[in-house]
Amino acid sequence: MREDMAVQAIAYISQLVEDVPAQRVDQIAAEAESSNLLFGITSILLFDGKSFLQYLEGPEREVKKAYAKILKSTSHNEIVELKRGRVGVRRFPDWALRFLRVGEQELHHAATGDWTGLARRRAADTGATTAIDRLAKLATAEGPAEAVVAGVLYFGAQDRPSEAESAP
Ligand SMILES: Cc1cc2nc3c(=O)[nH]c(=O)nc-3n(C[C@H](O)[C@H](O)[C@H](O)COP(=O)(O)O)c2cc1C
Repeated sequence: MREDMAVQAIAYISQLVEDVPAQRVDQIAAEAESSNLLFGITSILLFDGKSFLQYLEGPEREVKKAYAKILKSTSHNEIVELKRGRVGVRRFPDWALRFLRVGEQELHHAATGDWTGLARRRAADTGATTAIDRLAKLATAEGPAEAVVAGVLYFGAQDRPSEAESAP
């Protein structure tokens, strides 16, 4: 599917509120997935048992609305925005919400990646990966990360980043 407008993206980290039970996190992810599907948002949500890292992308109005809902959620706090900006094409077009349970180190690695550019991969001369590349690697890895909410095939292959082609 072609995007009619610019794709807006936002990434943030936050902390699960202590007395929120683990099952509630699965519910939140399921609710978020349904809503994102309805509003044309695609997203990656990492959770290490304590912290979240989420990257959302889609039409500006819808992403802003979803983010307002996220900011209002009582299930997490200490929300820190990592990056907000426009991207030319979606980085994760296949998933309304890809929920990945990861280790603390993996979440930390993604959070401390280079968030200065959302759209482009790091130039080959430095060899360094961007934070988005780190997310893409986690999202498509068959290793330690476990997909709890199955990815929804949402958009066509046209704008799909190449890593996504090996996704289950
Ligand atoms: C970590 C986290 C991620 C969320 N992601 C999304 C999302 O991608 N899209 C969306 O529409 N809502 C999202 N939400 C909102 C939830 O789906 C739900 O509406 C909200 O958590 C309910 O409010 P409560 O947490 O105060 O019960 C998110 C909430 C949290 C805590």
